[in-house]
Amino acid sequence: MIDKAKGLPADEIFLDLEDAVAPIAKQQARIEVAEALAEDGWSGQIRVVRVNDWTTEWTWSDVVEVVGRAGAHLDAVLLPKVPDASHVQALDLLLTQVEKAHGLEVGRIGIEPQIENAVGLTNIDAIASASPRVQTLVFGPADFMASIAMRTLVVGEQPDGYDRGDAYHHILMTILIAARTHGVQAIDGPYLQIRDLDAFRRSAERTAALGFDGKWVLHPTQIEIANEVFSPRQEDFDRAELILDAYDFHTSAAGGARGAVMLGDEMIDEASRKMALVVSAKGRAAGMARTSSVTPPEDAGS
Ligand code: GLV
Ligand code: MG
Repeated sequence: MIDKAKGLPADEIFLDLEDAVAPIAKQQARIEVAEALAEDGWSGQIRVVRVNDWTTEWTWSDVVEVVGRAGAHLDAVLLPKVPDASHVQALDLLLTQVEKAHGLEVGRIGIEPQIENAVGLTNIDAIASASPRVQTLVFGPADFMASIAMRTLVVGEQPDGYDRGDAYHHILMTILIAARTHGVQAIDGPYLQIRDLDAFRRSAERTAALGFDGKWVLHPTQIEIANEVFSPRQEDFDRAELILDAYDFHTSAAGGARGAVMLGDEMIDEASRKMALVVSAKGRAAGMARTSSVTPPEDAGS
């Protein structure tokens, strides 16, 4: 699986020491993870390890062994079940010691706190700002649903009997708002029914539409869908680029120095430019190019 992962078009790969590893296999897993991180053949993905949470007896050894052996090849540590800022700060301090002990650049390795229970969601602002190493807030839906006693066994789907909206909306928006407040990424967690790709797409579309930056994939077949869903649609990217061009032109002296202008049937102003910038930046990050069918700004209306 690790060899295969090296060539997959995912933005990030995380190697797990937590819930996917049986307790008696933890020690061996640390060695294998460290070796895999340091091997050749990765194709530019962000490399991350998920350690065990601080309520176990494993976190300290996970960090000391993996960062000690392979810290130069590690971009971030994914910290599960974070209940408050102290868990992030403890990891920050330990990382700093291990980095110093091994001559690594201090502070380079990031932290990705996983929000997986009610207390973590309650303390999310403090968690997001607990350390400059925090880069990403990650939703852990399976643990979260268990922690709030939601009556479901299918993660990512609405609980049976609930027909009044999206049972996840409050949690997702709270994570997203905290991420945007503190300038970090918001990442949705896994969809566990890996053979149901339509359902994976629906689940990914829900968080992509809200503004999340990405979603975990558990199987290679989910990658293409995730990459597509979290990139803007081509027509939206083209429209965003057109708005940016038109707005630039019409606010310039040559274009009449106007603040609000019509683009076709739509009035655009500074706020439209900001919305367009978001779509354009996501599209560019995904390697999108503008198609030739767009109208140049001079002809786009006044
Ligand atoms: C992931 O760790 C989850 O609990 O959903
Ligand atoms: Mg979990």
